[in-house]
Amino acid sequence: MCGIVGYIGKKEAYPILMGGLSRLEYRGYDSAGVALGGRKDIRLYKRQGKVADLASFAEGKDISGTIGIGHTRWATHGEPSDRNSHPHLSQCGTVAVVHNGIIENYRELREDLGRHGYRFVSDTDTEAVAHLIEHICERTGTTFPEAVRLALREVVGAYAIVAISTGDPDTVVVARKGSPLVVGIGDGEFFIASDATAVAEHTRRVVYLEEGEMAVLRRNEEFYVSSINGHDERYPIVMEIEAELEAIGKNGFAHFMEKEIFEQPETILDSMRGRLDPETGEVRLNGIADHIDRLAEAERIIFVACGTSFYAAILGEYLIERYAGIPVEVDYASEFRYRRPLIRKKDFVFAVSQSGETADTLAAIRLAKEAGATVLGICNVVGSSIARETAAGIYTHAGPEIGVASTKAFTAQVTVLSLITLALAKRRKMLSDEELIRLGKELFAIPEKVKRALTKQNECREIAVEISRSSDAFYLGRGVCYPVALEGALKLKEISYVHAEAYPAGEMKHGPIALIEDGTPVIAVAPDGEIRDKIVGSIQEMKARKARVIAIVTEGDMATAALADRFVEVPVADEFVVALLAVIPLQLIAYYTAVTLGHDVDRPRNLAKSVTVE
Ligand code: M6R
Repeated sequence: MCGIVGYIGKKEAYPILMGGLSRLEYRGYDSAGVALGGRKDIRLYKRQGKVADLASFAEGKDISGTIGIGHTRWATHGEPSDRNSHPHLSQCGTVAVVHNGIIENYRELREDLGRHGYRFVSDTDTEAVAHLIEHICERTGTTFPEAVRLALREVVGAYAIVAISTGDPDTVVVARKGSPLVVGIGDGEFFIASDATAVAEHTRRVVYLEEGEMAVLRRNEEFYVSSINGHDERYPIVMEIEAELEAIGKNGFAHFMEKEIFEQPETILDSMRGRLDPETGEVRLNGIADHIDRLAEAERIIFVACGTSFYAAILGEYLIERYAGIPVEVDYASEFRYRRPLIRKKDFVFAVSQSGETADTLAAIRLAKEAGATVLGICNVVGSSIARETAAGIYTHAGPEIGVASTKAFTAQVTVLSLITLALAKRRKMLSDEELIRLGKELFAIPEKVKRALTKQNECREIAVEISRSSDAFYLGRGVCYPVALEGALKLKEISYVHAEAYPAGEMKHGPIALIEDGTPVIAVAPDGEIRDKIVGSIQEMKARKARVIAIVTEGDMATAALADRFVEVPVADEFVVALLAVIPLQLIAYYTAVTLGHDVDRPRNLAKSVTVE
């Protein structure tokens, strides 16, 4: 949540900060602000609304300076407003702070600072940190970086923090605990961001701050990294980021989400590139090569994930149990972390995450590690916290996903889960060589078939217009198409705000069918497969209650199509891979519904791309 940027160097900071904020706006967008440092004072410009509103507000004002910090917010403490926007200034205006995360003991800090005469102008937890740093500087006369360290030792919670001070105007101090932070190294300059995409246009050389670390960045190019709790310095390890800048642009599409939907033929191929030999059915997963044999012997695999990644994990459960014969459990990371799960040392826990920064998933990983399980990751963002905190893992290689509603990351996760299934099935001799080759070929053929599924834009647009007039929609699926239905409903909710529910089709008669009225849209995910006839039965039940049924069917299945009011065809495919096709029209329907309703597709209300708070 929230995007953080910072700069210190020889160039004008303001345009760099604003460029970074625009790139990070997908992380939060209820307000934005920048603070420009100096010896005399810190100039602060902040505004409720989008980065564009901040730009208009700052027009004509003094935006000069070569050091600054910026923030785009997703509110946690205090409503979105000018005064709650970051950066926050200390009482005497000597310190400015931007923060991502949650300070859990902020009430105690506020009360304590209040006793020392500090007054608060915002409702945020962050303002306490700005005051605290100033207070420590004044009380102890220590240096600015040391005051930040001492302040953070009093802070309980999760944070990525960047601070500047008038007392030390050639220094930026950054720290992280629970929220990511990266420092880009330029030519006599440093770029700071909560996400590497915001530094990629300036430099490819970055240092990722580790948990519990802080860094001091000086104008004279000095760069110190040390732990917040001690003073032990570490040599900063510089990494090269590969982010393709054009991959971060919209490439002529109206929205990032649209671009990402249409990228899927390539991204699915990228997810299996070099991993699957379709001629032999051989799967090589180098990332987990040291674990795969033990994984194949596992008594149980547990998936932990949130949101779309959770639905991908449910698909993983269907695939691994059916084709590889290993018992699988799937848990919401947010539940897993608190429900005292019984984790055994021989368990394998897989964390699935696009961002690799989801706070609940990270907490679940830590719990599983403490219990002695082997924890592996399936992540999209290279070098993310989850990627670094797991014993090993597989990158999904979907490229940067900017649209808040996940699309290409989902299909990449499902592709990787399909590869894992094949690798395990082979080791466990659950499938014959012929069967492995056949399924491998089915998977390999998916990118071309996704291209065909993407040609159904017009049908999806027309369906979207109908759905945009409804207040509710139901999604039904069975087997591997149940998680597809869940994902379709989530997409619709997230960006169109039309209330949507997904059910295993067989469950409707146990209660939810009471909600079906004349004209209620019901999207039935009904491609060819073992249980297609069962879902056909559900379509008939829905029609009998006058629902308006939209069926996702296999090309040429006119019998099922004829039962529905509308239908969208997807290419013929084996059940093993059909979810990768069936989800495409659901993504398009959600996208066009939101467009029809005039919503900000890439920045849906109340959401943020990566949920780095609990
Ligand atoms: O980055 P992660 O995959 O861990 O994120 C998990 C969820 O927050 C995420 O999938 C969320 O549900 C998306 N907005 C779905 O479109």
